[in-house]
Order: sequence, then structure tokens, then C-alpha cells
Amino acid sequence: MAKVILLSGSPREDSNSMEILGICAKAIEKEGLDTEIISLRGMNVESCIACNECIAKGNCVLKDGLDKIIDKVRDAKGFIPAAPVYFGTARGDIMAALQRIGKVSRGNGKFLSWMVGGPIAVARRGGQSLTLQEMSMFFPINDMIMVGSDYWNIIFALEEKTSHEDKEGITTIQKFGENVATLIKKIN
Ligand SMILES: Cc1cc2nc3c(=O)[nH]c(=O)nc-3n(C[C@H](O)[C@H](O)[C@H](O)COP(=O)(O)O)c2cc1C
Repeated sequence: MAKVILLSGSPREDSNSMEILGICAKAIEKEGLDTEIISLRGMNVESCIACNECIAKGNCVLKDGLDKIIDKVRDAKGFIPAAPVYFGTARGDIMAALQRIGKVSRGNGKFLSWMVGGPIAVARRGGQSLTLQEMSMFFPINDMIMVGSDYWNIIFALEEKTSHEDKEGITTIQKFGENVATLIKKIN
């Protein structure tokens, strides 16, 4: 069964990023696809060091565990990263992860090609739009297909596990999840 990987860039235990990815995953599963939610919590994701070793070795050689996540993304048909907004842009770890996933893909048969997905940004009050744009840069350069919804994938929430209070945000993400699943089914 086609699988979608959902990746949270939050360090918090009961994060809004994880909560909203859970809601998104449910919408995808309702359409008959498999999902796996992975968190960067507890990891220290290093930035790409441009060693190019992934080209010969097939995966990232940095020893922080991201290589295992990269293997899961490699086997998936969909990819959805979510991140908290920190001072108007995405938390550093998620961008470091996206850059390394993209680098490994480009050096290894472009496994991200035609993978379906899109980013989600979570914040208390401001910076979601820019963060969404920042994370969106990852998709077209890697020959991926970014999917829409009936609004942008932005969520308003401050305290942990409160993203469900953003009713419009929830319906936007549910529709986004449905669209991701529908497109994956159509092209596979
Ligand atoms: C270092 C830091 C910077 C933040 N910067 C912003 C910001 O620029 N705009 C905003 O609205 N919220 C900001 N927040 C609040 C978080 O985005 C908000 O709590 C969000 O729900 C966190 O998502 P998470 O639960 O998935 O980690 C910031 C929080 C932290 C810790």
C-alpha cells in the first residue's frame, strides 16, 4: 500500500506539529493509504556539510539518525513536513533535515521525483506564511508535486496540543490530506 511520511520538526513532547500531523494522517488513511508520523524531537539534526559522500554511499553519512528517516522517505509516495515558526521562520532542524533529504535524493536516483505532499506551518500569531514559503522551496526543486487545499496550510496555536482549536486550520489540513491521498492514487 502507498505510504505517506509525515515529519514533525517540533522539539516539544505534545507539540502542535505532531497533533496536526495526526489529523492530516487520519484524513489520508480515510482515503485508503498508509501513513507514518516521525518526529525530530530528541534528535540534533546537523546541517548538510556538502561532503557529497551520499552520492557514493547511497545515504547521508552524518551520524545523527536522519539516514533512517531518509530511507523511509525514499520508500514513500508522499511526504509532509510540519514545523513550528521560530522568530518568523521555520525551526532550524526541519530545514536542515529537508536540505539533507533533498541532497541525498539528487545524488541517488532522485527518489523524491513525483512524490506528493506539501508543508505545514504552526505558530501562535505570525510568520506562518513566510515559513510555509520557506519550506515550500524544497518541493519543486526536487521534482515533487505540491498539493493545495482551500486555504494555506497554516495553523494558529501557542500552548501544546491546542492546534485542534483552530477550526479553519483543521478543515484546511483535512482537505489537504485528502487531496494528497487522491493524487497519489491517481498517479500510481
Ligand atoms: C524560540 C521560539 C520562537 C517563536 N517564534 C514565534 C513567531 O515568530 N511567531 C509566532 O507566532 N509564534 C512563535 N513561537 C510560538 C510557537 O510557534 C508556537 O508555540 C507553536 O505552537 C509551536 O509549535 P509546536 O507545538 O509544534 O512546537 C515561538 C516559539 C519559540 C520557542
